[in-house]
Amino acid sequence: GSHILSIGQFGRDDIERVFEVADRMVPYAHRQRVTKVLDGAILGNMFFEPSTRTRVSFGCAFNLLGGDVRETTGFETSAIAKGESLYDTARVLSGYSDVIVMRHPVSGSVAEFAAASRVPVMNGGDGANEHPSQALLDLYTIRKELQHQGRSDLDGLRIAMIGDLKYGRTVHSLCKLLCLYNKVTVVLISPTELKMPEAIVEQLRQAGHTVLESDVMEGSISKVDIAYSTRIQEERFANPAEADLYRGRYRLNQSIYTRYCEPNTVIMHPLPRDSRTEANELDNDLNDNPNLAIFRQADNGVLVRMALFALTLGVADQVDKVSRDVNW
Ligand code: CP
Repeated sequence: GSHILSIGQFGRDDIERVFEVADRMVPYAHRQRVTKVLDGAILGNMFFEPSTRTRVSFGCAFNLLGGDVRETTGFETSAIAKGESLYDTARVLSGYSDVIVMRHPVSGSVAEFAAASRVPVMNGGDGANEHPSQALLDLYTIRKELQHQGRSDLDGLRIAMIGDLKYGRTVHSLCKLLCLYNKVTVVLISPTELKMPEAIVEQLRQAGHTVLESDVMEGSISKVDIAYSTRIQEERFANPAEADLYRGRYRLNQSIYTRYCEPNTVIMHPLPRDSRTEANELDNDLNDNPNLAIFRQADNGVLVRMALFALTLGVADQVDKVSRDVNW
């Protein structure tokens, strides 16, 4: 029944529990079974920043558990545009809902909101700070992809993170999560100006991990299990034109993949990828590459978010009891 604000709240046992429940959600996400375990419950889905995956997959996850979703998108359609505080908004909306998911452009704002909320709040991304549900679905995806290759554990993982490591909150949360595992090699590839925050690099080193930093992609992705690409987070730059300096700097395509990566290297990206000409960090010519996991990764978001709701609302072991086969 508590808030999910930072990935730092999770230990290895918690993660195993989330993944075990997520695995059990497959028949529901695949529309083979229907459950009504959250019948009568309401999710307040509040997105004060653009989102496709996080907003819709949290909403679908709640619906798939039998609950209803009420949504606020953007400042302009909420009373925050009239000057209402996060405190008042939280007091009011937590009276209307059983759980709240919130995305907001300011770091720490979701925690501020949660402090005033009477129901559990989940962080759907707060500025450049954290995106904990994304880190969980990323790790869930890494584990599944490696299992598919016959590898059973995450210790010894080798992962490259590529792009905007300064403002990319998904890689911040993922690095913190990886600190729970052993002997991970993290290759950080970014422009010098967009390096991973030093505090997070230090956390990785404290965990005993090998951290390599580079501003060149090609030679640095040659010995990794996972190549995790990210978009330049133009919305975080004080001067958005500055983002143009970096956009398109790291562009993974099929010919670079074939030349530099190992045959089994899994390609990930939290999405959205920037599809504008000259900007796409993952070229469309990778779309038929079987190791391109980006859409499996997005699909896994539903499973992991169903698990987070079921665990937070205390119904994880009742999901199957109120379920039936689909009849459509
Ligand atoms: N990965 C992710 O957070 O995507 P959205 O911004 O579309 O939610």
